[in-house]
Amino acid sequence: MAGRVTVVGAGFYGSTTALRLAEYNIFDEVILTDIVEGKPEGLALDMNQSRSIEGFETLLIGATTTPEGAGYEKTADSDVVVITAGLPRKPGMSRMDLIGVNAGIVRGVAENVAKHSPKAVIIVVSNPLDEMTALAQIASAFPYNRVMGQAGMLDTARFTNFVATKLGVKVSVVETLTLGSHGDTMVPVPSRCRVNGKPLSELLSAPEIEELVVKTRNGGAEIVALLKTGSAYYAPSAAAARMAKAVIEDSGAVMPVCAWVDGEYGISGVYLGVEAEIGKSGIRKVVETKLTDSELAELKVAAEAVRAKQADVKNL
Ligand code: LAC
Repeated sequence: MAGRVTVVGAGFYGSTTALRLAEYNIFDEVILTDIVEGKPEGLALDMNQSRSIEGFETLLIGATTTPEGAGYEKTADSDVVVITAGLPRKPGMSRMDLIGVNAGIVRGVAENVAKHSPKAVIIVVSNPLDEMTALAQIASAFPYNRVMGQAGMLDTARFTNFVATKLGVKVSVVETLTLGSHGDTMVPVPSRCRVNGKPLSELLSAPEIEELVVKTRNGGAEIVALLKTGSAYYAPSAAAARMAKAVIEDSGAVMPVCAWVDGEYGISGVYLGVEAEIGKSGIRKVVETKLTDSELAELKVAAEAVRAKQADVKNL
């Protein structure tokens, strides 16, 4: 076991991520923080009491923090920090409606993280995701490779689930991919979708594929509408935890994530959903995949949409 990981924010997303990370049994410590006094300590105590049942040794530590930075000393020298802080959507809201309030929260958190864990890899999950990832990089002043966002893994997992359910096959034989933004300009990539190695286009008609693409793009909103009091966290936390695991294990796994793009696909200077190789240094490199002309055009539209918003975020 090696390393410490901090999860900032002990809401459903953060606490589920912390428990998944602890259950991997690969970290020495998982630190869970929140500004609600006692909540992270209480949750950590509860999770620790599951250790002998579930069979993991990782110790969970709860830390109440303040926006000014009190309590962050308990997170010191974390190898990975997952930022879940911020408000989730309510029914009818777009992720972008959260930009003003969450920018203030994420900026403060990223500054405190940088102060106490100057060598960490930051994984942002707060929404709107692409913009909050860009902001965390600015506020932490970390190099681009050490700040990334979680979204592509989640959107891809949703797409895979919808394809598997539609065809009545195991998720393990389905491969899908989504790139672009974690929002309206998400780019599901049907040309990279296979079922038992067969192109999806041989198994489903174009309108049927389009229906699943739309469902994927609305995957988060569908859950928000059902829950009424928050957003999804089981699949999102699974995705964030896998990314943190890839970092700590220096695995080199290629995952769809929100990463700084510098020339790949002819796009530069923006945080965008792409495939990237993940390791101890964060993003080792962005991995370009072959796209159809229309998929590439959609990716460029997504890049320009998030570029405009990421420029706004600097002043929030
Ligand atoms: C979702 C939120 C977490 O897509 O962005 O469910």
